[in-house]
Amino acid sequence: MARRVSIVFLAALLGWFAGVLSQSPTTTTDTRADTVFTLPPNADVGLPVIPNIQDPLAIDPQSVCTGYKASKVRNVSNGITADLSLIGEGCNLYGNDVKDLTLVVEYQAADRLHVEIMPKYIGKENSSWFILPGELIPKPGVDDKDCTSKSDLAFSWSNRPSFSFNVTRKSTGDVLFTTMGAHLVYEDQFIEFGSSLPENYNLYGLGEVIHGLRLGNNLTRTLFNADVGDIIDANIYGHHPIYYDTRYFKVGGKSEKLTYAPKATDKSAKYKSYTHGVFNRNVHNQEVLLKESNITWRALGGTIDLYFYEGPTQDKVTKSYQRSAIGLPPMQQLWTFGFHQCRWGYKNWKELQSVVDSFKKFEIPLETIWTDIDYMNQYRNFENDHVQFPYGEGARFISKIHDNNQHYIPIVDSAIYIPNPDNASDGYPTYDRGAKENSFMLNPDGSTYIGAVWPGYTVYPDWLGALFNSTGTNKWWSSEISTYHEKIKFDGIWIDMSEVSSFCVGSCGSKNTILNPVHPSFKLPGEPGNKIFDYPEGFNITNATEAASASAAASSQSAAASPAATSSISALYHRTTPTPGARNINWPPYTINNFAGDLGVHAVSPNATHHGGTQEYDFHNVFGHQILNATYHALLDLFPTKRPFIIGRSQLFGSSKWAGHWGGDNYSLWSYMFFSIPQALSYSLFGFPMFGVDTCGFAGNADMELCSRWMQLSAFFPFYRNHNAAGGISQEPYVWSEVIKASKIAMKIRYALLPYMYTTFYLSHSTGSTTMRALAWDFPDEPWLANADRQFLLGDAVLVTPCLEQGATTVKGLFPGVGSGTVWYDWYNLSAITGVTAGQNVTIDAPLGHIPVFVKGGNVVPLQQPRMTIADTRKSSWSLLAALDGKGKAGGGLYLDDGESLVPNATTWVDFSATETSLKAVPSGNFTDMNMLANVTIIGLPERVHGVQFDGVEVKSGWTMDGDSKVLTITGLAAYTVDGAWNKERNLSWRFE
Ligand SMILES: *[C@@H]1O[C@H](CO)[C@@H](O)[C@H](O)[C@H]1NC(C)=O
Ligand SMILES: *[C@@H]1O[C@H](CO)[C@@H](O)[C@H](O)[C@H]1NC(C)=O
Repeated sequence: MARRVSIVFLAALLGWFAGVLSQSPTTTTDTRADTVFTLPPNADVGLPVIPNIQDPLAIDPQSVCTGYKASKVRNVSNGITADLSLIGEGCNLYGNDVKDLTLVVEYQAADRLHVEIMPKYIGKENSSWFILPGELIPKPGVDDKDCTSKSDLAFSWSNRPSFSFNVTRKSTGDVLFTTMGAHLVYEDQFIEFGSSLPENYNLYGLGEVIHGLRLGNNLTRTLFNADVGDIIDANIYGHHPIYYDTRYFKVGGKSEKLTYAPKATDKSAKYKSYTHGVFNRNVHNQEVLLKESNITWRALGGTIDLYFYEGPTQDKVTKSYQRSAIGLPPMQQLWTFGFHQCRWGYKNWKELQSVVDSFKKFEIPLETIWTDIDYMNQYRNFENDHVQFPYGEGARFISKIHDNNQHYIPIVDSAIYIPNPDNASDGYPTYDRGAKENSFMLNPDGSTYIGAVWPGYTVYPDWLGALFNSTGTNKWWSSEISTYHEKIKFDGIWIDMSEVSSFCVGSCGSKNTILNPVHPSFKLPGEPGNKIFDYPEGFNITNATEAASASAAASSQSAAASPAATSSISALYHRTTPTPGARNINWPPYTINNFAGDLGVHAVSPNATHHGGTQEYDFHNVFGHQILNATYHALLDLFPTKRPFIIGRSQLFGSSKWAGHWGGDNYSLWSYMFFSIPQALSYSLFGFPMFGVDTCGFAGNADMELCSRWMQLSAFFPFYRNHNAAGGISQEPYVWSEVIKASKIAMKIRYALLPYMYTTFYLSHSTGSTTMRALAWDFPDEPWLANADRQFLLGDAVLVTPCLEQGATTVKGLFPGVGSGTVWYDWYNLSAITGVTAGQNVTIDAPLGHIPVFVKGGNVVPLQQPRMTIADTRKSSWSLLAALDGKGKAGGGLYLDDGESLVPNATTWVDFSATETSLKAVPSGNFTDMNMLANVTIIGLPERVHGVQFDGVEVKSGWTMDGDSKVLTITGLAAYTVDGAWNKERNLSWRFE
């Protein structure tokens, strides 16, 4: 859902200075009643600040700070502790130096080393805001008391010239992290530490950012959760201070000596890679500077709370990170893997009904229909618009789609409307009930903090008060969700605006709630003066007819849309210096590179205060996490036995155990379709397998070609939703006949793969393995894959090589593993890919409507028959696709349960194994599935088959052998499996002569 979408987008295009934005002329024209008060444009303008990394006057801490000396080094069980004392008087550069620190080094598990540096005197020299409470954000501890000797990580330290430490991989001697060469800086509002990194390093993670998967060595990653529409390289919605570092070595000589290989020029050489992870358990606003040969971490508070994961593969790091630090993702209900349709701008239930009907008419599967903020009564949570979205009609609509096994999901915003106290007809019981429970954030003086979002003036749930003080926020939230469900039988919840967003700086409504409601200070898409006709690149070429009418419409609008005058940027910036004994909460001395500038712009101010006294400064990035936590538990209160389905915008490391994430407010542009892949892969690394983006793009107008490609690409993401902003042209998949065709082709594959996707997702849930994978992760010894983010794997078996370029009919792609014997088969014609060498960029046919998909030899992929809904698909008969590898083997699994229970009372795992002459299915578990086995396809056979047996019985008819492509297709098995394909062990065999 959208926030000042077009304005922000224009800003990105024109490179405007963020602070100038709100000065764009705002006339008082409004589509609603004249009485609606518009927030003055300057309400969302903060003080002019310049990010430290861009400030020519900024002082480099390393030029003035002198670091610490270690003393009293003590061996303790599982590690060491030491005191660190400030050398000299310190620098007090971007905060007050903390004179005495404690170092804790702890071997927590064979593959995990913890290094923490924190103030020695908590609550004395400084306040307790340094320590992130373990009750709020779990802290990994020692899992194995005897792991020290098992670890491949070594810790060493030095006091010359000041305290520094190294973490080394013992088996290779490689220094993974070394703070040598830079002084440790530890102040109340600024912490700096970092490490040298090898030449041309490969780092991944550090989100949320719109960027290629590999971060490169010239980027500053700012972590400050913000309501910013997917601007490239800016800080957006999520906070994930973890990176993965992959290092490739050339293996040479008889002793298999490893030589660091920053560039893989020789594709015939043998390589080996090692990946480790570095997680900083710190929720404060921070940034990470990636330079040519080092990484520097700068945080505005908290502690240095590092966890080194030795790997040595991505898979091991990801699993260990989830197990030890953030938790495993929840299992999702089966239906959530169906196709979701949404848009901002669906006017009423009738329009939703007509959307549902259109999907049916064009025979495109639709699983779930969503509503954006349009359904609400004046944008108030838990209240419907009585005219457009009345409850009675809604109940009938939802009951009808439920009867058809379809679902409904509404958006829920994060801020709560505060009614006009002088207008009795403006009552809002949700607010009243929340206020009674002390559920809302405060100003430092104890009054209620009042910002502004869509409904006008708003208050903000205080999720932390509930933890540190006995407020009833979570109880109130759960009760509101349950009460709303009595009227509207939703099937999941979509949480938005949770960074947390406010359209004004500070508690702007404190003195004037009587002016309710307010309209934001920026124009909404589609309002007069804000018609911006963006079309994807190349729109005029493939959409000639549409382009002609669009350009006519655009020119008639161009006068209204003339850009604001670019004002000269003031040379005077607001800078602060440390105050002894106090922190500068709203304007910290170190200015991070926040996209909106001043931390109070378009967000709740840092000095907003929770019940119990903690401030947003220390917990800003936790709001989005806690609303997901509260919503997850509210859904469990409502449906105690069902898996909650939640998609959230803002998130923190660990939010993945409650919710999935969508990629936010993206654009109908080719570049953004590409960015969906690295964003998804990054979320795999963050432990969020339930991920997808607004397919066909949110802001701007989509077109036939882009939407056709994108509907096909997103079909291979676990969360598959088309969503559109208000004001743009429609982009449901039935709008263009080419897109109907393309969507059906891709959805047939997706729905056929449902058991495979569900099983893969189940493995993510139960082991922490990834669902969407970068090529480099499954093929770790191919350095040329380090950058590969235009293709991806879905689980172990499926390779997707989408066409991401306007006008193209072919796509270039790699076939990983071919140099070491991996075989790939084309999904569509089942033929093996031949004649490709390691690292070769192959040109693959990809006419419009075709998405290249390949199956990796070595896999048995379970399939069902694609139907219009997930429920019907799940009831269809089974198929197996066994793709043999170069050695004539394949394996795989199938996970089965009821598809919805939090703790299923029955589950079954079917283990598949194939050889050149047999395929065996061995079930274990107690889940009953009555579907028959209809088809089995074996690909990659060495020669012609002459006979087939199933469970010892000769299958006389019902199988065919395509001799040229060596594909054996067996269709006559249903008669043997009428009691269910997996109710006992199955043995299929075939013979060649
Ligand atoms: C840390 O590693 C560097 C090499 O990167 C080395 O020069 C230094 O001596 C090491 N220090 C310690 C304390 O091991
Ligand atoms: C680093 O990035 C900046 C901004 O994108 C660019 O101006 C600069 O040239 C880059 N530096 C190098 C060494 O590539």
